[in-house]
Amino acid sequence: MEIDIRAVRRLRESAGAQAAIEPMVEALCRYEVDLTAVRAVCDWIQYRSNFREIAMVRPVLATDAALLASTGAAQASVEGYELAMDLRRCARPETDVAAEVTAALSDAVHVTDGTGAGVGGLGGGAGDRVWLEPWVPGSASCVWRFNALYWQALAAWEKATGKEYEQSLPGGESDARNAAAAREVILDLFSCWDELASRRALPEELYVIELGVGNGGQARTWLDEFAELDHRHGRDYYRRLHYLMGDYSAHVLDRARAEVAHHGNHVSGLVLEATKLSGSVGFLAGKAFLVYISNVYDNLPSDEVAVIRGRTYLVQTRSYLPGAAADEIAAGFGLGRAEIAQLTERLLRIGPELLAESLPEKFTDTGQAVQFWRAVWQALRQAERYVPLQGLDTYLITPAVTGEILRPLLAAEGNVRMHVSNGALSSFADTLPLLHPFGRMVCHDLFTTRPGDYRDGFFGPGKYDGSVVNWVNGPLLQLIASRRGFDVRFSTFKQRSASNVKTLTVQVRD
Ligand SMILES: C[S@@+](CC[C@H](N)C(=O)[O-])C[C@H]1O[C@@H](n2cnc3c(N)ncnc32)[C@H](O)[C@@H]1O
Repeated sequence: MEIDIRAVRRLRESAGAQAAIEPMVEALCRYEVDLTAVRAVCDWIQYRSNFREIAMVRPVLATDAALLASTGAAQASVEGYELAMDLRRCARPETDVAAEVTAALSDAVHVTDGTGAGVGGLGGGAGDRVWLEPWVPGSASCVWRFNALYWQALAAWEKATGKEYEQSLPGGESDARNAAAAREVILDLFSCWDELASRRALPEELYVIELGVGNGGQARTWLDEFAELDHRHGRDYYRRLHYLMGDYSAHVLDRARAEVAHHGNHVSGLVLEATKLSGSVGFLAGKAFLVYISNVYDNLPSDEVAVIRGRTYLVQTRSYLPGAAADEIAAGFGLGRAEIAQLTERLLRIGPELLAESLPEKFTDTGQAVQFWRAVWQALRQAERYVPLQGLDTYLITPAVTGEILRPLLAAEGNVRMHVSNGALSSFADTLPLLHPFGRMVCHDLFTTRPGDYRDGFFGPGKYDGSVVNWVNGPLLQLIASRRGFDVRFSTFKQRSASNVKTLTVQVRD
């Protein structure tokens, strides 16, 4: 049996975490299971709200099962198991670690989903659950539909919670509103523009685009600072400035437009999908002096891949509600348990307002539909399993990038599991061509910066209020950029150095 602890610092610091290892091993040894086929992986899941149980079992499908799994065939054989533990919750005095492990192992005996009979008595199925979707790669999970719904119906959610989304970000405020950080970016732009102007090479139109604008706080801070600094600088750049705000939520864009209304026609709002930019903002190719993004990449869909004992696997997920939570929701809303999955699907399709309008006998008003949404979201968990990848080149990260690009990152780290950051990679690859040869991209977000980071930390997914947070695989973005002739730099976010947020800066290589 292997035990992989991906939280070494936490283990050192927490006596509770240290004490959790022994009962975990004892519970495993008591169970009728072939321990040679079991790995235990201990993470410290820092997100209080997340998609995991304290202990869960993840089947590792056999190589010959890949095809079956991809075609959804009923029987896929299992060649091993991973017991995944959240050390943070195990370290709490009230957690009975052995009982959690035993419950996870016995849940795995109840085969309900066709992953087949497995190793030493474990089936790899699940106990009492209400499934919300079939097995899918992480990026295709319904949690991303929940995420999109959150931004589309933000006003209704915030009305129900009584707090604005920014309050659930670490620090209670977005770093995007940091005026000092904005000033630094603007002054850099001015020196670039001064230089181009002195060579008569500065275009008349000066384009800046921001992706994922939220409440418009970032745009407002940036534009206010810009107008003020330009006034002092005296080169009349503000007159030539076009600030484009792009977001997939029309509601969010309306809010952002109101926030920057005093900047008049210097600003335009565009509804766009950040992961597919070439269609919507292709007209900017080679013209953007600044692409500005904050806290968006960590909010885009991602798969995860893992290397286990030298083989590469794709992590498949399947969202569910634990049976007890489903019963509570059913009782609270006067529903049958069997209706929950269907109503959730409908909610994701039409949103809380139309859900209430179309089913007044179940939801008296939008507020009640939002309460249903919140209850389902809070209870939502994800089962996981590992499906062998037949070859990295057969796995498409985006329509244009194959999994081959992951090879150097995976090869260096032994047993490792990492994000593929499909959405961020797609968006990033589509952004690079927009940059003017002297332009730059500045992105404040949660990045891993070395492949080895994944061996000693948990990087999502977690839940921020109604949205999903996943750290972004920085070395992967670096690889894509360097192949296309761009330099990528990561730096700590100077203005709040204690935060996990890093600044990624991208420029054409000199
Ligand atoms: C966490 S907020 C960040 C807002 C702001 N940039 C800040 O830092 O405070 C994420 C923003 O990204 C937008 N967003 C998320 N996924 C998107 C996608 N696939 N396409 C376009 N916008 C997206 C959301 O609507 C939301 O406005």
